[in-house]
Amino acid sequence: MIVLGIESTAHTFGAAIFKEERVLANVKTAFSTKTGGMVPARVADHHIEICDEIVRQACDDARVSPKDIGLVAYSRSPGLGHTLRVGATLARSLALLLKKPLVGVNHCIAHLEIGRLMTPAEDPVMLYASGANTQVVAYEAGRYRIFGETLDIGVGNFLDGFGRALGLGFPAGPAIERLAKKGAAQNVALLELPYSVKGMDVSFGGMLTKLKTMIRSKKYSKEQLCFSVQEIVFAMLVEVTERAMAHCDKKEVVLGGGVACNKRLQEMCSSMCKERKAKSHAPRNEFLVDNAAMIAWTGLRVYHQSGAVKPEQAGIDPYERTDDVEVNHY
Ligand code: ATP
Ligand code: FE2
Repeated sequence: MIVLGIESTAHTFGAAIFKEERVLANVKTAFSTKTGGMVPARVADHHIEICDEIVRQACDDARVSPKDIGLVAYSRSPGLGHTLRVGATLARSLALLLKKPLVGVNHCIAHLEIGRLMTPAEDPVMLYASGANTQVVAYEAGRYRIFGETLDIGVGNFLDGFGRALGLGFPAGPAIERLAKKGAAQNVALLELPYSVKGMDVSFGGMLTKLKTMIRSKKYSKEQLCFSVQEIVFAMLVEVTERAMAHCDKKEVVLGGGVACNKRLQEMCSSMCKERKAKSHAPRNEFLVDNAAMIAWTGLRVYHQSGAVKPEQAGIDPYERTDDVEVNHY
């Protein structure tokens, strides 16, 4: 079956075409501003403007005609209400027009499902580290459960806030990674920063405040700051991931989210796993960041599990939690 996936939980709007277990097309565009701030209504306007072009592009890339589509899947939760509505409305219109079934997908679960498809991981703990989200998720007793999460901001938003204070532009993650690598090559000393882990939860607000003071003091180089931030923040993430693995008795990690593109984070997860005789996996960057391929793939699984939703009932849920969703297709 050919599946069209539509992603619109936040600033990325994407469309993908899947056939069975193969990605035929995965197209996306992201709303951006110089400073990185985003007004939900403006992002929705951007998505409305480009959505038909992105879907057309996905069909062209996949060399399929819209009439070949057998299922339409869209991200129904969680995210910004304004942008979710654009994707849901488009998906509903297409399903009605093409007379094809429609399913809604939880975005966080989709990150985990694409990780399982694209890597050898079968029953992993997922470290989902993106802009807005930081969660440690694993499947247990019929649901994906959140074992740990951020108590304040997502790790990507934290990195972007730190990067903005350092004048690195947006998104700051890749620039921080480059500067940290330079810092490591220069053998800079690790700075002391607040390490905030509570059980399996983490928080970043205190560290961000401290960093802003340190930046204002002009005593530290960008390289030393970035190196120290990465070492300490990633150690926090790896610690809570390891605790969840021990708790659930799982032997695999799969990474998800834009921050997981960071090679140092991938390396630290791998060495933690090696010590536990476990394995850490990361799909390609294209499938780590927000993408519609994961929505198409998860949509197909949801369809096989519970069938389609009626277009008039195909809503959105900006606040749905990962463990609100019953999963029988594991
Ligand atoms: P979500 O809606 O799932 O929270 P998102 O909209 O924030 O996702 P993503 O593409 O998953 O989008 O993640 C973007 C974040 O990833 C940004 O905060 C960015 O700075 C960060 N990032 C990207 N590349 C890197 C990198 N190499 N190292 C660290 N952080 C990175
Ligand atoms: Fe995401």
